[in-house]
Amino acid sequence: MKITVVGAGAVGASCAEYIAIKNFASEVVLLDIKEGYAEGKAMDLMQCASLNGFDTKIKGITNDYSKTAGSDIAVITSGIPRKPGMTREELIGINAGIVKMVSSSLIEHSPNVIMIVVSNPMDTMAYLVHKSTKLPKNRIIGMGGALDSARFKYRLAEALDAPISDVDGMVIGGHSDTGMVPLTSHATRNSIKVSEFLSKDRLHQVAEDTKVGGATLTSLLGTSAWYAPGAAVSALVQAIACDQKKMFPCSVLLEGEYGLNDICIGVPVVLGKNGIEKIVNVSLSDAEKAKMKESAEGVRKTNALLDV
Ligand code: 2OP
Repeated sequence: MKITVVGAGAVGASCAEYIAIKNFASEVVLLDIKEGYAEGKAMDLMQCASLNGFDTKIKGITNDYSKTAGSDIAVITSGIPRKPGMTREELIGINAGIVKMVSSSLIEHSPNVIMIVVSNPMDTMAYLVHKSTKLPKNRIIGMGGALDSARFKYRLAEALDAPISDVDGMVIGGHSDTGMVPLTSHATRNSIKVSEFLSKDRLHQVAEDTKVGGATLTSLLGTSAWYAPGAAVSALVQAIACDQKKMFPCSVLLEGEYGLNDICIGVPVVLGKNGIEKIVNVSLSDAEKAKMKESAEGVRKTNALLDV
């Protein structure tokens, strides 16, 4: 199993590290445009192999896509991260051109690749990859909801004063500070709805804190987060590489599901060896349906800025 990660910045390198530690891939190619940068990160990560017990070979490459040939899965993290006070949508001017170039370069050498898009504004970048590459829709996956759901579970566990392993929850909708839809009506603690333990107000606060989870970290760190994004991507990669048939919220092209067409936005999907094995329809409360509709309007507004 060969995996390419484009962008050896904090998110890309964390993703490569988590993939290696999980030890399901024979090879991870880490590619960056900055001379020697990916090579350095790969070498540093490989020097953890004996300590972290993995046999995965991580190879660093400077801007030579021929070395990514035959990749089964490719992750696009390249582009600029946001600074404090910025929205993800403000990155479109620079990141759209990068993502378009990167996706076509990857496909040139790996025509059967399954692509995972991380670069922001992620839903719009995933849509751009669809429009520019014409890859089958099951092979283009946007990573946002897996990260947002991890932040949702973190906030739920905090509110419940419970171990994270007791908690389950999912965030769908756009990967944006205002567009996320934490499914509070479905969230559980050990199969019991969290609404049995938390007041409406406290649950609302959990949802609000989740939505700004990325912005909160950006203001603390001065740049976008990287550990949880890297971990979230590696979970999607493992589900595909190991044909796990696991369900995650991912940004995928909708053609009528959830009443939406011609848009990439976060919905529950099953991931396996074919990438998106199926899109899962879950029942939403009227309020969640309305939030999903509003979220889609926000994503479409950003999509309209694309030249596709
Ligand atoms: C985040 O929410 C980078 O969009 C990513 O941290």
